[in-house]
Amino acid sequence: SEDGPNFGRCPRKSTVAGGGTRNTDWWPCELNLAVLRQNAAISNPLGEEFHYAAEFANLDVEQLRQDLTELQTTSQDWWPADFGDYGPFLIRLAWHSAGTYRAIDGRGGSGMGQIRFAPLNSWPDNANLDKARRLLWPIKQKYGDSLSWADLIVFAGDLAMQNMGFPSHGFAFGREDTWQADEAIYWGSEHQMFPEERSDYERYNGSTDIHDRSDQLESPLGSVNMGLIYVDPRGPRGTPDPLASAGDIRMTFGRMGMNDEETVALIAGGHAFGKTHGAVAASNVGPEPNAASIHQLGLGWHNSFGTGSGNNTHTSGLEVIWSRTPTEWANDFLNSLFRNNWTLVESPDGAPQWEALEAEANYPDPFDENKFHRPTMLTSDLALLHDPIYHNISQGYMNNFDDFTEKFGHAWFKLLHRDMGPRARYLGPYVPSEVFVWQDPLPVVDHDTIDAADIAVLKGMILNNNALNISNLVTTAWGAASSFRISDKRGGANGARIALQPQRSFPVNNPERLDTVLGELETIARQFNGNSTHKRVSLADLIVLGGTAAVEKAAADAGVTVEVPFSPGRVDATQENTDIEGFSYLEPRADGFRNYGVGSPRDLTEEILVDKANQLSLTPPELTVLVGGMRALDANFDGSKHGVFTNRPGVLTNDFFTQLLDISTVWAPIENTNEELFQGTNVATGVNFTATRADLVFGSHPELRAISEVYAGSGQKFANAFVKAWVKVMDLDRYDLRV
Ligand code: HEM
Repeated sequence: SEDGPNFGRCPRKSTVAGGGTRNTDWWPCELNLAVLRQNAAISNPLGEEFHYAAEFANLDVEQLRQDLTELQTTSQDWWPADFGDYGPFLIRLAWHSAGTYRAIDGRGGSGMGQIRFAPLNSWPDNANLDKARRLLWPIKQKYGDSLSWADLIVFAGDLAMQNMGFPSHGFAFGREDTWQADEAIYWGSEHQMFPEERSDYERYNGSTDIHDRSDQLESPLGSVNMGLIYVDPRGPRGTPDPLASAGDIRMTFGRMGMNDEETVALIAGGHAFGKTHGAVAASNVGPEPNAASIHQLGLGWHNSFGTGSGNNTHTSGLEVIWSRTPTEWANDFLNSLFRNNWTLVESPDGAPQWEALEAEANYPDPFDENKFHRPTMLTSDLALLHDPIYHNISQGYMNNFDDFTEKFGHAWFKLLHRDMGPRARYLGPYVPSEVFVWQDPLPVVDHDTIDAADIAVLKGMILNNNALNISNLVTTAWGAASSFRISDKRGGANGARIALQPQRSFPVNNPERLDTVLGELETIARQFNGNSTHKRVSLADLIVLGGTAAVEKAAADAGVTVEVPFSPGRVDATQENTDIEGFSYLEPRADGFRNYGVGSPRDLTEEILVDKANQLSLTPPELTVLVGGMRALDANFDGSKHGVFTNRPGVLTNDFFTQLLDISTVWAPIENTNEELFQGTNVATGVNFTATRADLVFGSHPELRAISEVYAGSGQKFANAFVKAWVKVMDLDRYDLRV
């Protein structure tokens, strides 16, 4: 059975290229550092010097527009276009590429071109989108490195809508491709994919109740089934219950940061275009791309019925035509939804769907001008009718097409750009000037920035302040900068949002101590800014500069010479421009860098640490050196001494590593702490220490230990590596420096 102990093992026993039983087979629970080695330069064929924004500047966007427009209405024999227009198909590609985004961990979305790779390229919900990408290949080939797949996929969808009469709210390029499947993202734990009966088994905790199950959807997942972008179009678990479907829709779209108005706009707007495909039985369809034969060259779902395409297409197994105008931006989807009485029927593939049996058959056929169909809908479409809140919103949109157009435009723009991070990353001629709070906007710099002489003055003011010390300067700078997550590029020190809600109140930031530090830094900023006419220092710069000054001093006290580069130019955001709910997702459950919180039996403390390191795009050596350095700098969130294996706290020594690797220190778990806390005694010196899992993992994990040995061997090497990694974290969000 698929659930047996061999689940996931290839039955062939390859003797080459990494075959055979692996460490993950013998010790499936071993801490997985592979996520920290992702997207390394050696995997990128464009080379380390490649700079997308610079290449993109060479792109002739107008010509691209023309080429895509021509492609949209040039039907190809190998995959004929419904209604002579690939527009709806390209919209679905863009939507499925963007729609995996979930706000909780910011992962998913179109930003990295991940739909090209497994599992997404082979998810049942993405059936036949392999063909949509092949349609785009000639365009990608023509424009080469100046246009990423990630950008092309979403732009093609946006332009397709424009070509069908939708007034787009603008579009930003700037998504950089990745070259391997993202292994850091959690897609669920099921052993079965949609539409198998148990494909949602794990994420609903085994629950089979489809009503009001939303609060049970496992965090951070954004879809109800393994292999689906959002919800089952047939209704939860294939049950054609529109109201239950509405519950699933509200939950999953909510996880993407969409409210009810946006959700209704997106579904009704998306299904204003195109049709669904289930003309023949699923038994005609071959394996998905990742399981298909080598000679299919990455295409999957080979359909052996008739032509296997056109009127014989099988994609979702549902056969629905939503409107009389499937290639025009019009209000016919909502009109049809409200105008008709819906009866449960079956698609030719046997899937539950709804048909207006009394209505006139006047909906067009995709290939035969003389053939017409009765109106049809999906169960998930009827959710907009049956859920009272969705009903009202849908009715409002039906009666006010302009409002609907406006709301859909916003929601569509948000959908496509939600995971891009700051506006500084936006490229191209169509970037809208309107600013949205979900973009975490930053004010423009309206003053001269501090120079080297000012920086020296400010460092002096910081270090001479008695209320500030190494520990609290380091934790504040770290707290600000390390809120960044690479997944959707949110957070970071720029904006000084650590001084705003909700970050200011995160327990990991030790609000009381943070208040003191911010108060002192604000005073210094006032003094400096009061004395200067043109120049201003932002609180954000000062927070990072505080960390810089502290690290330099701590290194000097350790007798090592390092220079800590500092790039000024950060600005301060306002509370008004800070989406409190959106930012609440940035609060860590546990943060091993500051020895805050603990994991669970499921997600161990050290795994959460590695996940955080992935979000900070750290390598294994960077993770190691930062934790060792933070301990030396006495930077635990609450001032505890766990892992502070030094008698000189606040000095940038490599004591963490030398002590951890010292055979004379004997460790044992402290009772009643679930092996979260440990006591160590150095039998040679009699000194006692305490440590967390986030400390001891650097001695126990063989690869982390190997790295720790290097840092235990040289204080100077350690300090150099620490400073480099520190500055990297401080500048993670400085897209303004990189464009
Ligand atoms: C097609 C489900 C939301 C745009 C489809 C298909 C299904 C589906 C089953 C048919 C695939 C096929 O057989 O070819 C859903 C569900 C949604 C949802 C369950 C959420 C509750 C959206 C959204 C958009 C969208 C938000 C875009 C804003 C489209 C388009 C097509 C389509 C344009 C037509 C594709 C074509 O003509 O080839 N959707 N969808 N859908 N969907 Fe959705």
